[in-house]
Amino acid sequence: MAENPAYPVGLRLTGRRVVVLGGGQVAQRRLPALIAAGADIHLVSPEATPSVEAMADAGEITWHRRGYAEGDLATAWYALIATSDTDANTRASAEAEAHRVWCVRSDDADAATAWTPATGSSEGVTVAVLTTEARGRDPRHTAAIRDAVVEGLRDGTLVAPHHRTRTPGVALVGGGPGDPDLITVRGRRLLAEADVVIADRLGPRDLLAELPPHVEVIDAAKIPYGRFMAQEAINDALIEHARRGKSVVRLKGGDPYVFGRGMEELQALAEAGIPCTVVPGISSSISVPGAAGIPVTHRGVAHEFTVVSGHVAPDDERSLVDWPSLAKLTGTLVVLMGVDKIGRIAETLVANGKSPDTPVALVQEGTTAAQRRVDATLATVADTVVAQDVKPPAVIVIGEVVGVGPRGTV
Ligand SMILES: C[S@@+](CC[C@H](N)C(=O)[O-])C[C@H]1O[C@@H](n2cnc3c(N)ncnc32)[C@H](O)[C@@H]1O
Repeated sequence: MAENPAYPVGLRLTGRRVVVLGGGQVAQRRLPALIAAGADIHLVSPEATPSVEAMADAGEITWHRRGYAEGDLATAWYALIATSDTDANTRASAEAEAHRVWCVRSDDADAATAWTPATGSSEGVTVAVLTTEARGRDPRHTAAIRDAVVEGLRDGTLVAPHHRTRTPGVALVGGGPGDPDLITVRGRRLLAEADVVIADRLGPRDLLAELPPHVEVIDAAKIPYGRFMAQEAINDALIEHARRGKSVVRLKGGDPYVFGRGMEELQALAEAGIPCTVVPGISSSISVPGAAGIPVTHRGVAHEFTVVSGHVAPDDERSLVDWPSLAKLTGTLVVLMGVDKIGRIAETLVANGKSPDTPVALVQEGTTAAQRRVDATLATVADTVVAQDVKPPAVIVIGEVVGVGPRGTV
């Protein structure tokens, strides 16, 4: 005879007594969701893993340091039986049955009255995957289905349109340094939901090719700006598209607030009364050195790192960077937008006390297929940049951290 399928349900456990027997790995895995559900959790177990113990120390669960005793389940709404003592598990599940307490058994799915589905959440929706029959239970398969659905919802490859009206507005999305895998999950989802994308030259441009044909993709560098500054023209384009009721993503390289003019765009949108959300991104200032095997800090070598813009030369009156003070720091200096001015920057650092032998690395097109690393010192970097034809975009790292990683591994 065919087995009846399990009936799926969502338990609302806030303030309700849930008893967990056994403080091992199963409890460790299940407790966070029970805590998140607001259950009044009582753990009965002589021992517990350090993580479970930490939950008890934090007051998230009440821990009774003893083995199971008859009566433990009498007033529970729900029970999870997961001790290594089969006899205790059997007695406890008989008690659960007698008191009509739904009960999960980690050692015997057939004897259980409830099963825990593989769950995951995205955007206020919980995805729960359950095998239909005890015989066919394959936890890895259900977990894989859960992962596929949740990942797909998060990255937008599984399109489940919202039927509530979407608020038009702009998302300033930090796209990371260039590798399409290095955008955040939230950024990727917003990109998948966009009607209009205004993108910079830097950042994960490969993702643009994956957008459906109805999405209007605008190259920020090509927006005509006539009598405006280029940035004003971009701000206007953002406002104009949002006013037409579109969901607009402003896709930026790295993080929107690291030399990204993100705040200027946010301010312009706020003045125009357009809702705006900002999604952080992985900045090239840390990730590009990392991709080339250079840590910006290293124990015993550098206890600080400073990120500076090198877009104007040190003696330029527009420069806001105190180069003489930077020359006195012992940590790492990370220079963005500095390829053209690196000769003058190196000269200034040396003139103010930095050793001419200080190692320098230039990492061009970091995290992309074209990534390239060129090494020099402060004394040689100006000539090296010319000789090796280093071109922007590049992140320049100055300091002893340049030499700490094993070469040839990245
Ligand atoms: C206008 S800034 C934007 C920085 C960006 N908001 C961030 O957080 O990474 C542009 C500079 O970032 C650096 N940059 C960005 N992406 C890079 C990459 N993939 N490889 C090397 N340098 C990069 C270069 O120094 C480039 O000139």
